[in-house]
Amino acid sequence: MDDDLIVLEITVNGERRSAAVDRRELLIDTLRARLGVTGPKIGCLTGDCGACTVRLDGLITKSCLRITVAEYGAVIETLESMSSDGLTKLQESFWDNNAFQCGYCLSGMLFAAEELLGTNPAPTEDEIRQAISGNLCRCTGYDAIVTAIKSYADRVTDSGH
Ligand code: FES
Ligand code: FES
Repeated sequence: MDDDLIVLEITVNGERRSAAVDRRELLIDTLRARLGVTGPKIGCLTGDCGACTVRLDGLITKSCLRITVAEYGAVIETLESMSSDGLTKLQESFWDNNAFQCGYCLSGMLFAAEELLGTNPAPTEDEIRQAISGNLCRCTGYDAIVTAIKSYADRVTDSGH
């Protein structure tokens, strides 16, 4: 094995994984290239677009800003973790409202929406725009994404859940 590689263990989507990684390797590269987890995408690699978003030890983060070896033992959830049993209701709302085209921004948008709704189940449109503001979408113009999140939140609130 290459002397520069370090073997580490992380939990990805509920599964304990082991990988030999370069000491300077970015978490997004480990996930995609070494572990075959391709839900998070590579966009800017500068922390600006949100395409690489994952949830790390319970908090969303941009995986292009993380060095993998610093996350030894971390628990990571990616876009794939959301739909292991089919689409979630939030994802269905994105589908129903045409809130994506290429899908490149979905990790960032869905994790940001989930995080917002976890603390604020009935957000205003402005609060939604603020919550997703760290994510770039080149396809939709954002309005459909805001509508998808708002209509999901309204439905949950109306049903009393
Ligand atoms: Fe990580 Fe753009 S690729 S924020
Ligand atoms: Fe293409 Fe958002 S759907 S970047």
